Amino acid sequence: MASHRAPEALPPLSGQDVERLKRDAARASAELVHDRMRVGLGTGSTVAHLLAALGERAAELRSARFAATSPATAEIARSLGLHVQDLDALGELELAIDGADQVNPDGWLVKGGGGAHTREKIVAAAAQRFVVIVSANKLVAEIGPPVPLELLRFGVTHTLHELGHACLREGDAVPRQSPEGNLIGDYTGPVRDPATLAARLSATPGVVEHGLFAPTMVSEIIAAGPAGLTRRLGAKPAT
Ligand code: 5RP
Repeated sequence: MASHRAPEALPPLSGQDVERLKRDAARASAELVHDRMRVGLGTGSTVAHLLAALGERAAELRSARFAATSPATAEIARSLGLHVQDLDALGELELAIDGADQVNPDGWLVKGGGGAHTREKIVAAAAQRFVVIVSANKLVAEIGPPVPLELLRFGVTHTLHELGHACLREGDAVPRQSPEGNLIGDYTGPVRDPATLAARLSATPGVVEHGLFAPTMVSEIIAAGPAGLTRRLGAKPAT
């Protein structure tokens, strides 16, 4: 994951095109899941395609066990016949698969568009292998705002003030609450260096978790573009 090359320019993509690319990346990742594995499942529309692909193989995967990062993922997975259990009951996972909002050439991710990034980070860290699935329009030259935040309700006005450029999600911006009942907001200021910003956000009292995922958390990125799939190995060491 050493390349600093900017992502290749994409032709204009319709909503349908993007959906097809999400499905292609998700279906490729579904092939990594085998019976008897313990697998973490992310949240979002790309993961919805993964769930559909796994659901088609529910009989074959009857001894596989899944940890879900959100109530929505748990509900869909169960409805498709997959066995969902608490992460703590499963112990270490062999694999976790999730989407992302942005991926830069160094392998930094922004996650949390769906407000589930705290659970997603815990599940990614609990997995020996963390695979990220994206449509190619998520590949960015530089990480930019917004960076999702999960914020403790207590003193949130002060937390936002301390962060400087940050707001709570309002109006149509969903979700506004995490699965834990904390508030979801976004850091909207400049990112420049993701590592510096990640350290600053982590050090701010009241920030439960931020949506920046370091390259050392990521084992592989599967990106689907109009010309096909690209697979990049990440910096997470194989265990
Ligand atoms: C949810 C996430 C999602 O993985 C991310 O927002 C990408 O979502 P989608 O697959 O719907 O584009 O981090 O918290």
